[in-house]
Amino acid sequence: MNGMAPLQDISEEELSLRHAALKQIKDDLLTNSAAPLWEYRKTNNFHPVIGEGSHAAKIMFVGEAPGENEAKQGRPFCGAAGKFLDVLLEHLRLDRKQVYITNIVKDRPPNNRDPLPQEIDFYSGYLDKQIEIIKPTCVVTLGRFSMGYLLPKCGLESELTAISKLHGKCFNGVFGDQSLSIVTLYHPAVALYNGSMRQVLLKDAEVLLTLLSS
Ligand code: URA
Repeated sequence: MNGMAPLQDISEEELSLRHAALKQIKDDLLTNSAAPLWEYRKTNNFHPVIGEGSHAAKIMFVGEAPGENEAKQGRPFCGAAGKFLDVLLEHLRLDRKQVYITNIVKDRPPNNRDPLPQEIDFYSGYLDKQIEIIKPTCVVTLGRFSMGYLLPKCGLESELTAISKLHGKCFNGVFGDQSLSIVTLYHPAVALYNGSMRQVLLKDAEVLLTLLSS
């Protein structure tokens, strides 16, 4: 045991309210034909990826957008980058059931291209609701897109700079009326192309141990 309590101490009633609210968001995403990647999703028989994990999680991980595996299965981080995310969680003695994992963009962009600003604008509405409902005490941004959205959103626009400067840092932010920590990490996919980045990511993630034990 490492003394961590990764889940919020909430009542069964609160938990079922959260399940219901999150189900509504999922149903909306499934049927909202205004989604910028709706046609691409339908043509390819892809699924939107809303997120998964505990609805009482203290820590929410926010990636960029589903890749092909994710869009086929409707689950976040179930491909190669996800395998490294699992390693990172294991390093923190956490598993997927003790955290919540999602992305800023909920549909797969064609050919894994970067998300467009209008896609981030649209899908971030879903992310905002997820944060409002789950009320994580810490949001971990994975990569520059979720960092670029969440730092300004949490009153930290002046801190925003290159991820090569911000990786492994922890900020105190405010989301609506919720205070929360924001931990900025590289995207786990960087570890796939550059072996030395594995160690950087694992070391950076250790800032979460301090957070959870305080
Ligand atoms: N990359 C992401 O940003 N999210 C996923 O779910 C998978 C790969």
